Amino acid sequence: MRSFVAIATFAIVVAINPVSAQSRRTTPAPATAEPSILPAGNVQHGRYLAERVAMCVECHSARDGEGRIIEPDKYLGGNIPFAPPWPNDWATRAPRNRGLVGYDDKAALRLLTEGAIGRDGRQLRPPMPRFFMTTQDAADVIAFLRSLH
Ligand code: HEC
Repeated sequence: MRSFVAIATFAIVVAINPVSAQSRRTTPAPATAEPSILPAGNVQHGRYLAERVAMCVECHSARDGEGRIIEPDKYLGGNIPFAPPWPNDWATRAPRNRGLVGYDDKAALRLLTEGAIGRDGRQLRPPMPRFFMTTQDAADVIAFLRSLH
């Protein structure tokens, strides 16, 4: 009897495993079915980088009449209130980057590790800084921006 239970248990495990492996495979992946090129990101460290180091929040957020960032509008886009006096290919608005909409893992990683290449493959204009982050720092910032609702 005991060996029957053992065999039955073994058979069930063998029977279930391929099914669960398959259901894992058919779960919709955010980008592609290929293994992710992004390491797992640390949201808290990403927030620290975005708000204290790389300063994404300063340009990409709306401000009130006194110049203070409007808390619920963080990362929804902001005007750049200054421009260099010389003619330049200068952007007067930093668009929304909350959620990094339109950037799959590959494009998001390229944006932050290869000097501010936009989702269409073109160089973003100043004053967007040309970031060359480590892969892990980029993954953290990406995880943070995607965690915002
Ligand atoms: C000094 C201001 C400034 C800072 C700091 C800044 N950005 Fe930007 N960012 C811009 C501007 C301006 C643009 C628009 C560039 C253009 O239109 O070519 C932009 C564009 C972008 C875009 C393109 C959005 C799209 O619709 O394709 C993304 C994404 C982005 N920034 C993310 C970030 C992240 C992430 C950080 C921080 C790690 C950051 N930015 C820091 C000014 C800034």
